[in-house]
Amino acid sequence: MLLIEKPEHRGLCVILWVFISITLLSVSGTHGAPQEAEKRGREKDRGGEAEEQHEKLADQPDLLRSSSIQPTQCDIPPDSRFDCAPDKLLSQEECEARGCCYIPAQPKGNAIWQPWCFFPPSYPSYKMVNLTTTKTGYTAQLTRDRPTFMPEDIMNLELDVLFETESRLHFTLKDPANKRYEVPLETPQSSNKASSTWYSVQFSDDPFGLIILRTSNGRVLLNTSVAPLFYADQFLQISTSLPSHFISGLGEHLTSLTLSVNWTKVTMWNRDMSPMPSANLYGSHPFYLVLEEDGLAHGVFLLNSNAMDVILQPSPALTWRTTGGILDFYVFLGPDPKSVVRQYMDVIGYPFMPPYWALGFHLCRWGYASTAVTREVVKNMTAAQFPLDVQWNDLDYADAGRDFTFNKDAFGDMPEMVNEFHREGRRYVMIVDAGISSSSPTGTYKPFDEGLKRGVFILNATGQPLIGKVWPGPTAFPDFTNPETHQWWHDMVKDFHDQVPFDGMWIDMNEPSNFVEGSVEGCPNNKLEAPPYVPGVLGGSLKSRTLCASSKQYLSSHYNLHSLYGLTEAIASHDALVKVRGKRPFVISRSTFASHGRYAGHWTGDVLSTWEHLYYTISAVLLFNLYGVPLVGADVCGFVGSTSEELCVRWTQLGAFYPFMRNHNDRRNLPQEPYVFSQKAQQAMRKALFLRYSFLPYLYTLFHKAHSAGETVARPLYLEFPEDPNTWNVDRQFMWGSGLLITPVLEAGKTEVSGYFPLGTWYNPLTGFIIHSKGQWILLSASLDTINVHVRAGHILPLQKPAFTTTESRKNGMILVVALTMEGVARGDLFWDDGEGLFTFEKGDYTQILFLARNGMLVNEIVRLNSQVDGLLLKEVLIFGVLSPPHTVLANGTPISDFSYRTDTKILNIPLSLLMGEQFVITWS
Ligand SMILES: *[C@@H]1O[C@H](CO)[C@@H](O)[C@H](O)[C@H]1NC(C)=O
Ligand SMILES: *[C@@H]1O[C@H](CO)[C@@H](O)[C@H](O)[C@H]1NC(C)=O
Ligand SMILES: *[C@@H]1O[C@H](CO)[C@@H](O)[C@H](O)[C@H]1NC(C)=O
Ligand SMILES: *[C@@H]1O[C@H](CO)[C@@H](O)[C@H](O)[C@H]1NC(C)=O
Ligand SMILES: *[C@@H]1O[C@H](CO)[C@@H](O)[C@H](O)[C@H]1NC(C)=O
Repeated sequence: MLLIEKPEHRGLCVILWVFISITLLSVSGTHGAPQEAEKRGREKDRGGEAEEQHEKLADQPDLLRSSSIQPTQCDIPPDSRFDCAPDKLLSQEECEARGCCYIPAQPKGNAIWQPWCFFPPSYPSYKMVNLTTTKTGYTAQLTRDRPTFMPEDIMNLELDVLFETESRLHFTLKDPANKRYEVPLETPQSSNKASSTWYSVQFSDDPFGLIILRTSNGRVLLNTSVAPLFYADQFLQISTSLPSHFISGLGEHLTSLTLSVNWTKVTMWNRDMSPMPSANLYGSHPFYLVLEEDGLAHGVFLLNSNAMDVILQPSPALTWRTTGGILDFYVFLGPDPKSVVRQYMDVIGYPFMPPYWALGFHLCRWGYASTAVTREVVKNMTAAQFPLDVQWNDLDYADAGRDFTFNKDAFGDMPEMVNEFHREGRRYVMIVDAGISSSSPTGTYKPFDEGLKRGVFILNATGQPLIGKVWPGPTAFPDFTNPETHQWWHDMVKDFHDQVPFDGMWIDMNEPSNFVEGSVEGCPNNKLEAPPYVPGVLGGSLKSRTLCASSKQYLSSHYNLHSLYGLTEAIASHDALVKVRGKRPFVISRSTFASHGRYAGHWTGDVLSTWEHLYYTISAVLLFNLYGVPLVGADVCGFVGSTSEELCVRWTQLGAFYPFMRNHNDRRNLPQEPYVFSQKAQQAMRKALFLRYSFLPYLYTLFHKAHSAGETVARPLYLEFPEDPNTWNVDRQFMWGSGLLITPVLEAGKTEVSGYFPLGTWYNPLTGFIIHSKGQWILLSASLDTINVHVRAGHILPLQKPAFTTTESRKNGMILVVALTMEGVARGDLFWDDGEGLFTFEKGDYTQILFLARNGMLVNEIVRLNSQVDGLLLKEVLIFGVLSPPHTVLANGTPISDFSYRTDTKILNIPLSLLMGEQFVITWS
């Protein structure tokens, strides 16, 4: 059913606009009533008793001979077949020689499809022996009698199952004889088994299988008995059934919010690639979240950084296929999706707290060819009355494209320019690429000379710095897994900062990207360059657009460490900025890996200026929030190709609700700064930008919760409403925290947009329209100057009058938007500090205020107070859902005479002038 939210008045009726109308509209408050309004093999349970269900499989002697395959064993439904030919196409003879079943199917284009060659249930795998209990859980040995078709099987494995917390199970499969590469991520350690858990574990010993059940309802969350386990030196594969087909995660890809289990292959191997479907992109996040039928959720994280594929198939089931390392799994029991995300962040780390200014508007373009042009951009933004917090430069500033230099001609007065921006309350960020130019004459380029001397670069087969090619020409690649490299990086950052007092770093090309395959000398022939199984990487080879896999890094081979390049550079940059600036660091990186959010943010790379990409950016932003990287956004108006005015307006409106908002453009395109468009378009963009600035105190508070409690900032609807399956696939709308729903227009030529409103009351703070939803789709009006945002009943959002920079807006009057439930209740909070100090939360140097509305009364509770709120005034309270006109409004006992109430919108507007840092009681009756 569709409810229509009708604009009954044309006059842009603006309620919130009262406050955000700097140069904009003035109040014209009017309008009408808005009431729209395995049991194969023996299974043991945790208690360790055996259940006799032994089949004769282990006794069948000739499994590897095709003749031994019983036809009935191949009688497996197509959706449940697991691929026995992952490495290459096999003929029937070759397939059967592997001991597998061969049943051809119709090919469906180039989509992957049910395998023709698949494992029979009796296919040999490991068998488990010597299962024993330990202080933390279980340990067991896995052995196999015969090798697989992959080279270098590890015939004996050690299984460790760790009951880490009531909601977190950790299990590893390692080679007890030889230490293999493990991801150098510090993870929480527990020395004792959790006393009670929401999961139980069962084992199947022959063939080996691990089964994880949700205790509350007996649901099987993982069952690795569905296909044989492989553990060869360069091919590790483990499969599991899935309890539902609603699965999100496994980034980074151009994808909708949930993945299709219809034979989907997702590949992880960090890659410089403009987002396109099915391609491995800039980052790797081997984590997924599954929504179970009843809205419960669980998550799984495979801590492994090797090139990998994950296969999703309709039974539903999932197969992890990685090319190295160990199998190191974490399972998170939720039971709700928000808890799954927090439990994941408990392992990878909570997000860093961004500086307040990072939440303002950022502007950049490749092609701002001089300081004169860069200054003109800022001047034009100011003249056209757009907010702008951070001006950026792409590689144009650098001398011959080299890091830590500036072009002494066109950017000769770069230091003065940055100082000017600072005087205007703005910040400055410039790009820093991963590759360090290696071709300057000795003694003329310190970063390379010094790097060479200090041994910071990745080495090739002959032990010399591997040379690739990036923007400046030949380049060497710093090895950020080497502690010396961090020191050297710090020194380079400091040298440059001593000249140009920049505020943050934009680290790019750090997959790392390389314009030649492997190196200028190519790559040697060895097993790392040509593994027996190559995941579905773009280019078909691991060296495609990057370094030789066999190049050497401090910790291990690039083969193992490749996908950690961006993360390790982000850590080095974060740490360098802390030391050099003594303030909260700001780092935005293209390449990422699990735990990136502890150190830096992310932008979604070279997106196209198309409506399709506009849509995909929502899922990208939401998924990165699930990955613990809340400071994320896409290039507003698109990067590749010229935008259109309408697309740029809609993108600016959506971008106003990216946690990180930057308009960035390629040099070849038509300009797309807000001021280049028609007055009508500018007006719409200005409105969106001021709307964002009004909501910044709320956004900042959400970042604090991400940092301190492992929450998300921008979140999918299903995180808030998991019990409502209608929300599960919603990825054209999203929420900020639990209190604000954003419904952007994502199509050309539309002045209406349909959005899903979960059960409850929703208030449009701009129009006053009220939606009482039963959980339904609602058609909203959305003229070109409108982005629909709705405040969820029960929430109080702290807002602030906007300004042209956050330096200014942070001093402005605050506004509380109080969205009452039908019972008249709402709550909210504010986190406030100096906006850029280090560890303010950890040191207790902040203010935290709770707000509570109930029974016609709004009170605050000051949980913590510091001097940063001194002088900050509460100027206005807007209460939505006041059912009858009040006669008296009191603030701390003093009557407020100039309150206003509208019977149509049921909004009570109370002008005030109270200190935010003091306790207040506001009543209406
Ligand atoms: C696990 O999977 C195996 C193989 O498909 C199946 O026989 C067994 O019943 C499953 N176990 C559970 C507990 O679902
Ligand atoms: C299992 O335990 C027995 C007795 O301790 C030992 O002889 C055997 O080697 C163990 N098996 C494996 C695979 O570790
Ligand atoms: C899966 O994909 C195939 C081929 O594209 C299509 O025919 C089929 O309907 C899809 N199934 C589902 C459940 O989407
Ligand atoms: C700034 O605005 C002026 C006047 O509209 C225009 O000519 C100029 O190209 C703009 N500069 C930039 C860098 O956009
Ligand atoms: C290693 O790199 C150096 C340049 O640093 C080059 O001269 C040498 O040929 C390279 N070795 C190989 C095996 O590519």
